Amino acid sequence: MTDKAVAAAKGLQNVIVGQTRLSLVNGTEGKLIYVGYKIEDLAEHATFEEVIYLLWHGELPKRQQLDELRRALQAEMHLPAAVMGMLYAFPKTATPMAVLRTAVSMLALYDPKADDNSVEENRRKALQLTAKVPVIVAAWERARNGKEPIPARPDYSFAQNFLWMLKGTEPQPQEAAVIDAYLVLLSEHGMNASTFSARVTTSTLSDMYSAMTTAIGTLKGAAHGGANEEAMRMFFEIGSAENVENWFNTYVKTKQKRVMGMGHRVYKALDPRAAVLRRKAEEMSRATNNMHWFNLAVKLEEVARQDPEFIEKKLYPNVDYYSAIALYTLGIPMDQFTPLFAIARMPGWAAHVLEQWADNRLIRPDVEYIGPMDLEWKPIDQR
Ligand code: ACO
Repeated sequence: MTDKAVAAAKGLQNVIVGQTRLSLVNGTEGKLIYVGYKIEDLAEHATFEEVIYLLWHGELPKRQQLDELRRALQAEMHLPAAVMGMLYAFPKTATPMAVLRTAVSMLALYDPKADDNSVEENRRKALQLTAKVPVIVAAWERARNGKEPIPARPDYSFAQNFLWMLKGTEPQPQEAAVIDAYLVLLSEHGMNASTFSARVTTSTLSDMYSAMTTAIGTLKGAAHGGANEEAMRMFFEIGSAENVENWFNTYVKTKQKRVMGMGHRVYKALDPRAAVLRRKAEEMSRATNNMHWFNLAVKLEEVARQDPEFIEKKLYPNVDYYSAIALYTLGIPMDQFTPLFAIARMPGWAAHVLEQWADNRLIRPDVEYIGPMDLEWKPIDQR
C-alpha cells in the first residue's frame, strides 16, 4: 500500500465511495428515497416510466414529458436483426442472464456511436438500452421455447409490453400493476455491487455498453440479484409450510445454507421494498388462488425472525424474498427473475453512468500485499 492508504473493511463495508443525487438508502431505519421521493409513494402511485424520467432528469415529468418518454421508449422496443438472429442461434440450454449479458454487449456492435461518450449520446444509449433489454429477455424466452418473438405494442405501457412480449397474451391489469410496482421498486439502490461495477467501468472512460455488460454480470451472482431465483428454489426445496422448521434447523442452524432473500449489507431493519412486495405477493397469491408459496414464505420469515442469531445479526427479508413469490405467481419462469431485475435496474445503472461522467475520476483502490518477498529466481529445471 502507499503511505497515505487506509485499510477499508472487508467487502468495502461502510466505505463511502462518492456522492449521488439519485437515491438514499437508510439501512438503520429501513428507508429508501429516490431523488427526494419515498419508495412507498412511488410504488403506490408512479409508473416505471415516471421513475425513469425522475432518475434521468432529477424531477418528475409533466404529462407531455412523460408522453414523449413513453413514445421514445416504445419506438426503441426492437432489436437489430443480427442480435435477434443470434438469440435464435444460441444453445437453448443457455441461462437467461448469460444470454442477456451477451446480447447487451452485442448491441454495441450495431451502434456506430457506441464509443461516443458525450452526454447526448449517453442519454440516447440509456434510453435505447432501457427499451431493448425487455425485448431481449422476452425474445429469449420465446426463442428457447421454439416460438416466434412478439413485437411490442404502441398502446401498451412498459410493464404491459414486457408481459405481452413474454407471454403473447393480453396482460391483466393486476398483473401489469404488480410488474410496474416491481420495476419501480428495483430501479435504483445507491452503491450496490452492480451499480458500483458500472461506475468503475465508466471511470476508466469506457463506454455505456461495457458498463451495462459489467453491471449485468455483477447482478447475476446469488449474493446480489441472483438471490430472487435462489429464494424460489429454496421455497421449492422446503416444499411446504409444515417443513419450514425442520429445514431451518437442518440447514440454516448448522450453517450449511443461508436463507436466500434474507440479510443485507446496508439494511439492518426490514428492507422497505420487501414490505411492499410482501403485499403484492399476497395479492397475487389470492388472485391466483394459490396461497401455498406465500404461506410458506411467511412461515419461514416467522421462524427466522424468532431465531436469536437472526435477531442479533439483524437479518430481515430483502427485496428478493417476496418478489420471488410475486413473480412466480405471475407465471414468470424462475430463471427469468434476475433478468427482470436487470430490466428494472437499467435506468438506475444508466443514471449512475451519467452521474459518473459528470464528475469522473478513475476508481482505483489499493490492496495490501501479503504474499512472499525476496524469492530467488531459479531456472525451470531447478524448481
Ligand atoms: N441466512 C443466514 N445467515 C446469514 C444470512 C442469511 N441470508 N445473511 C447473512 N447471514 C449471516 C452470515 O452467516 C454471517 O454470520 P457470521 O458473522 O456468524 O459468520 C453474518 O450474517 C454476516 O454475513 P455476511 O455475509 O458477512 O454479511 P454481508 O453484509 O457481507 O452479506 C448478503 C449480505 C450477501 C446479502 C447476505 O445477507 C446473504 O448472503 N444473503 C442471502 C443472499 C441474498 O438474499 N442476497 C440478496 C441481497 S439484496 C440484493 O442484492 C438485491
